[in-house]
Amino acid sequence: MTATPDEPAAGAATEIRYRPMRAEDVPTCARVLKAAIDDYSGRLNQPPIPADLGPVERIIAHVLATDPARAWVGVADDGVGGGERVLAFANAYVRGGTWYLAALMVHPSVQAAHVGSALMDRAQAGFEPAPGMAIPSPDAPLDTGLTSWGMSTDALQPISNALYAKRGIIARVPAWRMGGEVRRWSAFPRLPAGLRLVPFEAVAGDGPTGAERLEAMVAELDQEVLGFAHPQDHGWMAREGRLGFLAVDRGDGRALGYAYGSGTGRVGPVAAADPALHPSLIGIAIRETPVLGPVATWVLGSSDEAMRALLDAGLRYDGLPGLFCWSHDRHPFRRYLPAAMAII
Ligand SMILES: CC(C)(COP(=O)(O)OP(=O)(O)OC[C@H]1O[C@@H](n2cnc3c(N)ncnc32)[C@H](O)[C@@H]1OP(=O)(O)O)[C@@H](O)C(=O)NCCC(=O)NCCS
Repeated sequence: MTATPDEPAAGAATEIRYRPMRAEDVPTCARVLKAAIDDYSGRLNQPPIPADLGPVERIIAHVLATDPARAWVGVADDGVGGGERVLAFANAYVRGGTWYLAALMVHPSVQAAHVGSALMDRAQAGFEPAPGMAIPSPDAPLDTGLTSWGMSTDALQPISNALYAKRGIIARVPAWRMGGEVRRWSAFPRLPAGLRLVPFEAVAGDGPTGAERLEAMVAELDQEVLGFAHPQDHGWMAREGRLGFLAVDRGDGRALGYAYGSGTGRVGPVAAADPALHPSLIGIAIRETPVLGPVATWVLGSSDEAMRALLDAGLRYDGLPGLFCWSHDRHPFRRYLPAAMAII
């Protein structure tokens, strides 16, 4: 039996054990996330995160399903009937040579007792490390083949930022959530004449090999821009109802950019071989997916053209910025707007 984390543990210092995350832990992990974030953001007079944890659960479940070795929970005895309660979790994923942390959350009742560090060790390793064993890290990737390590954080959260920076994954770029209605469409010019707009579904639906061809076109661009292909995350975007659009070279048929829009107004991810294409790509995502209401996206401080086009269009900064951390300064966020903070 797994108890909920909502009540703080009673009695003396809680002893935490670690084990791989299971699918049935996901709803409890989402509640740990809400408890952990609301606790510190409440102290900063920030509003709580939404009560509907469905989207959070779907992200945790996706990351778990695509890299189960890097999803771990910290559990304690629940004090009744030999059951356990999940009080902390980490889930990270590897795509190509990149390791990315989707979430690290520790219930407020057991914070500052090295639970977060212990979970990071396991999420970095992908296995239960024996005492004294070296953990793969940006300084010593061992035999993992990993070359880049990253995550996003909150700008006002010194503990997580310090925990990651000590491990060589340093906050480098601010990320603004931008939202609002488009007031000046001229901020989003049409594609240059040499490129044409093609919806993902037009490629995927074009004959028996269409889906394969789409995956290959997107993977080639992701490899160039991000350094890795991630068809599993494109699958998640499709399941979340996001619609993708390609900017295709009329000459050689290569994809030079893509952008996702959504009926909920969420824009992103956006990838471009040349960031000068970002304003056109964002415009395509918004024009091609009719939305009743405002649009919203994450824009990083390294995406000059996208940021300026969105401000020019009339969107506004919304809330406090996040930070993207990366293990070196050749991060991909000049040419890439992420899907979300937890899944790039
Ligand atoms: C952030 C969080 C995951 C860390 O887990 P934790 O178990 O509390 O942290 P740990 O005890 O393992 O480690 C914290 C480290 O940060 C260090 N630290 C704390 N505040 C610091 C500061 N202002 N500057 C530098 N280092 C600091 C601590 O000294 C400790 O390092 P040490 O082990 O070398 O002494 C946890 O506090 C949490 O869930 N917070 C709320 C939700 C959240 O912000 N999650 C991360 C979102 S990005």
